[in-house]
Amino acid sequence: MDKNLPDASATNRKLVVLILGLLCILQAALNISLRLALYNSDAPDYDAVIRNLKEERDQLKRKLNTSECSSDAPDYDAVIRNLKEERDQLKRKLKTFDHYTQEGWVYFRSSFYFISSVEKSWGDSRDDCLQQGADLVIINSKEENEFTRQFRRLFWIGLTDTETEGTWKWVDGTLLNTTTSFWHPGEPNSSGNTDEDCGEARYNYAEYNWNDNKCNKLNFWICEKMVA
Ligand code: BGC
Ligand code: CA
Repeated sequence: MDKNLPDASATNRKLVVLILGLLCILQAALNISLRLALYNSDAPDYDAVIRNLKEERDQLKRKLNTSECSSDAPDYDAVIRNLKEERDQLKRKLKTFDHYTQEGWVYFRSSFYFISSVEKSWGDSRDDCLQQGADLVIINSKEENEFTRQFRRLFWIGLTDTETEGTWKWVDGTLLNTTTSFWHPGEPNSSGNTDEDCGEARYNYAEYNWNDNKCNKLNFWICEKMVA
């Protein structure tokens, strides 16, 4: 072999080293450009997203365990209690309606009315009403007086001045209101100096139809059961 000629294997080795060197440079360039491309991209920061979600979860957990949450929430026990109370009230009302309708009472503006077919003293009449869960009629308006006047009978109403002469009170203890009283002209008069302490509807042809009369007199009567 000619010693002046370059050794072929040495040349090959140099070539391999050169290629490897070039490959390394290429790899490094690729690495750098990839990192730059990723760094500048709009890809979300998943670590940050997860960090935020965890923080949010922990906040909700804390809220659930503190009164902060329960104070906002409706008190379901109270809601149910109220609904039950409302239901029971309606049931009671329905029972009252059934009962008085079946017994032949007449309904007018939140009350049931009963007109007797026999006559009794004011006290016995009142007892009869009380036994039926009602009381003698209390008249609070012109309309109610007109309604009772339709029965066209002479009947006791729940009005008396037995406690204090001249002070007329209804059976529920309320004072007679002068704007809704319907005394017939000249009444009440305790006629002929007799003690007339009980109210009756006497002059039913007139709008002002009330009279005071002796409580032991026998009359028909009207009971009233309020339902509202
Ligand atoms: C009088 C009333 C009285 C009644 C007694 C009537 O004639 O007008 O005021 O209460 O008799 O029965
Ligand atoms: Ca009288």
